[in-house]
Amino acid sequence: MAKKSSQFHLLDHPLIHHLLTEARDERTQPPRFREVMALIGEFLAVEATRDLPTRRVRIRTPLERYEGQTLQLPITIVPILRAGLGLAAGFHRIMPEAHMGHLGMFRDEKKLSPVSYFEKLPRDAAKGPVFIIDPMLATGGSAISAVKVMHGHGCRDVRLLCLVASPQGAARFAKAHPTVPVFAAAMDRQLDERGYILPGLGDAGDRLFGTSD
Ligand code: PRP
Ligand code: URA
Repeated sequence: MAKKSSQFHLLDHPLIHHLLTEARDERTQPPRFREVMALIGEFLAVEATRDLPTRRVRIRTPLERYEGQTLQLPITIVPILRAGLGLAAGFHRIMPEAHMGHLGMFRDEKKLSPVSYFEKLPRDAAKGPVFIIDPMLATGGSAISAVKVMHGHGCRDVRLLCLVASPQGAARFAKAHPTVPVFAAAMDRQLDERGYILPGLGDAGDRLFGTSD
């Protein structure tokens, strides 16, 4: 399903192409945009958790004994506010046991560097894998900073889930965090002079929540 190039995993699937095209379409309104983001979030979650360890459990089906597998918890998802909430909803839908932390960051419009304004994380995040979720890997600054925060809290297994990456952002991220896997639904062409991804989908937070500058 995913094409791999070192730590960058690009999901290549007709359903993803279909959904992402709908997300990119300027006519897609917030209610549907949120649903599409959540659906793609489910795909990203499946792909990014492919190697998670499980432990054996003995249960009974209505007919007989059965030895099955269950995920080892805790699993932590950390959307970067605001836009990460859209994909995170899909991740949480298929993995409701995951704990959710939040990192609030916005981009300084001039310097294009991240400004942190909120942090609330589960106490046991360092005991399991952490999935940072942000749809746009543009300059890469926000994602790089979010990973540093999680490393600072002792989290060793940190992964990044995004919707659309720019070549510049992906390269900068790989340089800053060469061992952190990235799972993305698309690699776009370039950044424009305002740091927006082209062709991209515009401002993900605004499109999710119906706001605008
Ligand atoms: C967007 C996006 C990322 C960041 C990506 O957030 O959700 O967090 O920009 O840009 P970067 O890779 O150049 O750091 P934004 O500042 O628009 O905040 P919002 O999610 O609250 O709208
Ligand atoms: N943030 C967004 O929401 N969109 C972009 O294209 C870049 C950063």
